[in-house]
Amino acid sequence: MTQPITPPPATRKILVTSALPYANGQIHLGHLLEYIQTDIWARFQRLRGHECYLVCADDAHGTPIMLKAEQEGITPQQLIDRVGIEHKRDFDKFLVSFDNYYSTHSAENKYFSELFYQRLNDKGHITRRTIKQLFDPEKQMFLPDRFVIGACPKCNSADQYGDNCEVCGSTYAPTDLIDPKSVVSGATPVQRESEQLFFKLGDFKDFILNWLNGHTQKEIANKQKELFDEEMFEWDISRNAPYWGFEIPGEKGKYFYVWMDAPIGYLASFKNLCDRKNLDFDEYFQVGSDCELYHFIGKDIARFHTLFWPAQMYGADFRTPDGVWAHGFLTVNGQKMSKSRGTFIMASTYLHHLNPEYLRYYFAGKLDNSIDDLDLNLDDFQTRVNSDLVGKLVNIASRCAGFISKNFDGKLSDSLPDQKMFDQFVAAGNSIAESFEARRYGKAVREIMALADKANQYIDRQKPWVLVREDETRAQVQPVCTQGLNLFRLLIIYLKPVLPRTAENVERFLKVSPLAWGDSLTPLLDHEINRFKPLLTRIENKAIQKMVDETKTEQGKDQNAEKVSDKVKLPLSDQPIASQINIDDFSKLDLRIAKILKAQKVDGADKLLQLTLDLGGETRNVFAGIKSAYRPEELDGRLTVMVANLAPRKMKFGVSEGMVLCAGPGGEDLYLLNPDEGAVPGMRVT
Ligand code: MSP
Ligand code: ZN
Repeated sequence: MTQPITPPPATRKILVTSALPYANGQIHLGHLLEYIQTDIWARFQRLRGHECYLVCADDAHGTPIMLKAEQEGITPQQLIDRVGIEHKRDFDKFLVSFDNYYSTHSAENKYFSELFYQRLNDKGHITRRTIKQLFDPEKQMFLPDRFVIGACPKCNSADQYGDNCEVCGSTYAPTDLIDPKSVVSGATPVQRESEQLFFKLGDFKDFILNWLNGHTQKEIANKQKELFDEEMFEWDISRNAPYWGFEIPGEKGKYFYVWMDAPIGYLASFKNLCDRKNLDFDEYFQVGSDCELYHFIGKDIARFHTLFWPAQMYGADFRTPDGVWAHGFLTVNGQKMSKSRGTFIMASTYLHHLNPEYLRYYFAGKLDNSIDDLDLNLDDFQTRVNSDLVGKLVNIASRCAGFISKNFDGKLSDSLPDQKMFDQFVAAGNSIAESFEARRYGKAVREIMALADKANQYIDRQKPWVLVREDETRAQVQPVCTQGLNLFRLLIIYLKPVLPRTAENVERFLKVSPLAWGDSLTPLLDHEINRFKPLLTRIENKAIQKMVDETKTEQGKDQNAEKVSDKVKLPLSDQPIASQINIDDFSKLDLRIAKILKAQKVDGADKLLQLTLDLGGETRNVFAGIKSAYRPEELDGRLTVMVANLAPRKMKFGVSEGMVLCAGPGGEDLYLLNPDEGAVPGMRVT
């Protein structure tokens, strides 16, 4: 080893959270920005050898959930049970590695909510006051700001919510609206007085103004300080019945406001994990704890997490967060996510068409530690994934692995031909780690991809495919490819927080136990590896379009009438396997690689495309029933697989001389088979 390597710091104990999604809707790509950001950070810490837990839960209380359940004709409990399962399933599929995913409607959360309240109350931080609020006389309930609409008091625009105007941007109280109406019943709300409980945030002014320095981003801190200057806060933490939540001890018909018990849900979820795993809860949450605590949130909920929450914790004698890290909002193709444009994409819709690691990689490439909004440009998404992941990263392995398997019995050489280059890749790990630690994933990804370019250039220079041809140079192929695969292995270690599934597949391919960051120090030598299987494939043009189309179709449909679970595609086991054949039956098929020289529409045929295929010298004419799935120009120049010895068939439009192979049930849902790089027209497929 020639380069100095910074030793990894001593083991840290870290607890990380993502904001708790509301239990009344599906997870969409905007949410995923946050859960992926958090997951990458937690996985990075674990990969570095630290003890790091990631917990989350559904935010299961509040008026919107109560009313949504009523609309569906089910109880709030039934609603949150169902949505909880859907959320958990989406997060699993996007490889978000929660150690616990819980619910705020839990015994632990009730316990902690009451404990917080009691401690704050005992110390005089709770006060009561009578206030006027809008009340729905028909529904007999007080209305949250968002459940009252009317004309804006400033600009007179119709149909504005009770908290702010989307036309002129002004903020006001719902009682200021002109001609207000209840969203729930349509009735004109009346003003009604009732006594409410308030948390005296002002008691914690000094503590908060101090805490804001260094524990959240500057922009967020400045904004909160301004709020403190403008008004001395008292925060209304109670709601009148009917309300779906925890009743406040000692109060009749009063409930904790959802934002009171939601962040306490972080503790409740962790407590539940501690009980199951025998961990020491107090070690993490007592005042003066050595363990680290970080909350990842969207910038829209910064006030709750950087004013009320640290003050609640401080006042109730718990430790306070080491960091509340906010991110910006996701836009798609430069605009706010929109149902009619088909860009308000649900996690489950995405999964019908695309690999979750593509999105993880794309978000990672764009994320940094700022609160700026982040754009998912769908064209750029496709280009990035195809060129970086398939064209650069996976390419390194696919260019080297075959030679090792074919010519050296799958065995890597016992030394590296370019140790210096390997050491440079190892040394680069220091600054990559710093970038991950500082949540500057985009910077880390750029550094990793620059290394991938270097690795590919190395292979280009060495040309193993030339070396292998001559007897006197053939022996050099083994060290050259060993070098290439070792560089690849380092890049996979660095990308493991972003691409955990691919990393697992690479571990299988390299026949190694789960890779940790520290494994980068030693190369893999004199070691037998498995045959290489393609790791990631290109994003097809139509995959993204189909996802957008499906999102548009979803629009307007009642999302509950058609549950996501009904749309999950049939697993293989539900499609019966055809009756057995023997090897002789199979060998009768002559499958060949074919190049589509030309694809064109056929006059009068609504399902067929006419393909001119090159079979490596011989040209064939084939009519294929793939018109609903492909535009002809998408196919020109592509390689695919054909049955070359199928008897010619006379059709209405001409003679078809073979058949191309597709996966899928038919219609739009067809996927032409694509050989891996290296295959040429005419090659036999066996
Ligand atoms: N239930 C509250 C959080 C309580 S935390 C104690 C909530 N839920 S939410 O479902 O509306 O949002 C969950 C998280 O997803 C929030 O951090 C929010 O900022 C984030 N996002 C929701 N839509 C988003 C985008 N379009 N873009 C980026 N993040 C987004 O708020
Ligand atoms: Zn207005």
